Amino acid sequence: MASNRKLLVLPGDGIGPEVVGQVLRVVEWLGAKRSLSFDLEEGLVGGAAYDAHGTPLTDETLADAISADAVLFGSVGGPKYDDLPFELKPERGLLRLRKEMDLFANLRPAMVFDAMVDSSTLKKEVIEGLDILILRELTGGIYFAEPRGIEELPNGDKKGYDTNLYTTPEIERIGRVAIDLSRKRRGKVTSVEKANVMMSGILWREVMENLFKLEGQDIETEHMYADNCGMQLVRNPKQFDVIVTDNLFGDMLSDCAAMLTGSLGMLPSASLGAVDEVTKKRFALYEPVHGSAPDIAGKKMANPIAELLSFSMSLRYSFDMQDDADLIDNAIQSVLASGIRTPDIMQTGMTLVSTDVMMDNILKELDRSV
Ligand code: IPM
Ligand code: MN
Repeated sequence: MASNRKLLVLPGDGIGPEVVGQVLRVVEWLGAKRSLSFDLEEGLVGGAAYDAHGTPLTDETLADAISADAVLFGSVGGPKYDDLPFELKPERGLLRLRKEMDLFANLRPAMVFDAMVDSSTLKKEVIEGLDILILRELTGGIYFAEPRGIEELPNGDKKGYDTNLYTTPEIERIGRVAIDLSRKRRGKVTSVEKANVMMSGILWREVMENLFKLEGQDIETEHMYADNCGMQLVRNPKQFDVIVTDNLFGDMLSDCAAMLTGSLGMLPSASLGAVDEVTKKRFALYEPVHGSAPDIAGKKMANPIAELLSFSMSLRYSFDMQDDADLIDNAIQSVLASGIRTPDIMQTGMTLVSTDVMMDNILKELDRSV
């Protein structure tokens, strides 16, 4: 059995451990039925790491993530950690991983499965067959730039501030990924910013315009303000193919896009670094777009599909196992088509199941497919 695929599993907090636990059943299945084994390692991140080590990410876990071929991430955060100082908050663990591994390209595909067309709050004709990709810049912008802080003013009031900052190379490299991805899709890129009010937005548009002129003549390109993009996403999302945007707009627009598909519980993501020219290796972390959902944690209500689709993205982007990724995606399709639903995507006439029974059904479908 070939086994040098190194996968670091970081379940995190809230529903993270539940959904990751279910996905590990599929990893096991791949070993048993497809003779594909992984060197699995497990680590702590977020609140779980804080509880054990007093920090949301230890240097050891970061080193493990760097030496792995891919990281499968659950979710972090919860009310228990609300009062921690900023640098110790669970989210800092995830942000440090993104930054230190330079995972600048965050791919958030929003696809509507046929069986799910009635689950969205939008009309069927608006979202039927939807397949768009939000490409979010993940290591720059307002999430990381300095200065930032909360300070007291002479009159006793306070000011809180952040900086949105992008450099030419940061914009160019995410733009190139967008062009590349669109070529394997429908060949259209929409670059999103607010060049009408933000300096960083003016530069973003200028750099993208140049890049598209020099390297994107074979594809269709356009520019759109972020507020308009939010509106267009709910008005007519099928006009888009690849949306490329900054860290903050990407965070917001991908949550919007998630609801087009029916539930945040359905949206996976891949966070990728650049390919190393010598080793050909690329750092990668795979995480669902949803958070730790503390309100339903431990209740067997969480939808494991976003986590499983994230794992399936790791098969595509890190392990070159397209066939196995297809098997998994198809099994999910079939189970949804058979009317099996977790509470977040439940509809009248469908069968309501728990987190683990959803995965029982996906595994049964996988068994049937080989
Ligand atoms: C996401 C999340 C994170 C973000 C949080 C948990 C820090 O909302 O991945 O979209 O804001 O990037
Ligand atoms: Mn988010």
